[in-house]
Amino acid sequence: MTHFPEVPAFTGFNKPSRVEADVQDLDVQGVIPPELDGTFYRVQPEHQFPPKLGNDIAFNGDGMISMFRFKHGKVDYRQRWAKTDKWKLENAAGRALFGAYRNPLTDDEEVKGKIRGTANTNAYIHGGRLYALKEDSPALVMDPNSLETFGYTDFDGKMTGETFSAHPKTDPVTGNMCSFGYASKGVLTTDMTYYEVSPEGELLFEIWWQNPYYAMMHDFAITQDYALFPVMPMTSSWERLEAVKPHFGFDTSMPSYLAVVPRKPVTTAADIRWFKGPSCFAGHVMNAWNEGTKITLDLPVASNNMMPFFPDINDAPFDPVTGSTYLSRWTVDLSQNEEEYRSERLSNMIGEFPKYDDRVTGKKYRYGWLVVIDPSQPVEIKGGSAGGWVMNTLGFVDLETGAEQKYWVGPVSSIQEPCFIPRSPDAAEGDGWIVMVVNRLEERGSELLLFDALEIAKGPIATISIPVRLRFGLHGNWADAAATQSLEAA
Ligand SMILES: [Fe+2]
Repeated sequence: MTHFPEVPAFTGFNKPSRVEADVQDLDVQGVIPPELDGTFYRVQPEHQFPPKLGNDIAFNGDGMISMFRFKHGKVDYRQRWAKTDKWKLENAAGRALFGAYRNPLTDDEEVKGKIRGTANTNAYIHGGRLYALKEDSPALVMDPNSLETFGYTDFDGKMTGETFSAHPKTDPVTGNMCSFGYASKGVLTTDMTYYEVSPEGELLFEIWWQNPYYAMMHDFAITQDYALFPVMPMTSSWERLEAVKPHFGFDTSMPSYLAVVPRKPVTTAADIRWFKGPSCFAGHVMNAWNEGTKITLDLPVASNNMMPFFPDINDAPFDPVTGSTYLSRWTVDLSQNEEEYRSERLSNMIGEFPKYDDRVTGKKYRYGWLVVIDPSQPVEIKGGSAGGWVMNTLGFVDLETGAEQKYWVGPVSSIQEPCFIPRSPDAAEGDGWIVMVVNRLEERGSELLLFDALEIAKGPIATISIPVRLRFGLHGNWADAAATQSLEAA
């Protein structure tokens, strides 16, 4: 009998959905600007089958990709599984074969050595391909229009690392997709790789080095000349995996680091500069730039662990106050003999899932958007919530003037990561829209909200009803129609 466990991760709003869908011309309140012509892709973790070990974290669900195609003021919706090797093996078996998150010791014998990736973290367009990404495995290639899965790529054998981050960045100057891998020689290894992939899909070069300790390396930033890697003490060990503890644990006794890697094919480990800082939680990055030797990196930072499901390594209780993330600015100057990065807070909003206008990646920029927890707003979700700590607000920061805006989605709702859409390819930075999924937690439904990007406080200009409940998603991206056209015509 198939029955999902009666635990919070699989009940209520989190009840499995597992729906592939094609719905044309979604119901819209308000007006979708007719010039909007492109697609919003996003991904949610969704277990194909009940978890092998009886319970599981959402991060271990299989990737389900949603696409919202905007054209002529209308929106079409398509949703498909990212059919990873894991998905196919389990689909054929009719049950879960892989065990706990990032723990191959818990897998069935018959799948030992197979790629465990779930492609559940990001849906990224580059060179006309859709990449469905999970940081523990290679990139999964899908068709950006049909959402058919083609399979994992090693870039014609040129990628020798085992993993490809879920947070690539496209350099707006070169068009290269910049990415990296960690645990690049296998589970728990401290090996790191940096990759650049040309707009034609050719892997141009790899750089290899070692991190000071094994850490969750979830995101990074690029500048014109450097790739920047925050290293935080979200770590693991074979002892943890043998005990089937959560893969990651947070170790406050270890320092954090910033690695500065020159973006050049000739770079070796010896060329990398390391800067130290106090133990902190640094997950996603906003953006970064360099002016000569002076490097600026903006990212949400918490003074302690922000992920309760990856607990403190010494079993200290989770603290939502020290686990709150604030947009911060780390700076270093490579011409100085510095050993530590400097850090300052940029906003007092509790914010994560930072987004900006992708056309200014690696450049000095002005505007950012965040998923914000506003504890001053009421939370009226039946059955309680985590003490009012709900991602209930879209936040906006103007880093030039310091001005901020917020849009609260109400007492029974939460939001998913926003995504910026430029008005046109050459529009000024920030001139465009924000698209964002909102979770209507009591109604168990989902909507897509569209805002004027620089005026989010005014509320959405359009509300698009999604006829299927989406689960909590992770990341998404916008692709102009031109970016996927070649495959559409093929
Ligand atoms: Fe992420």
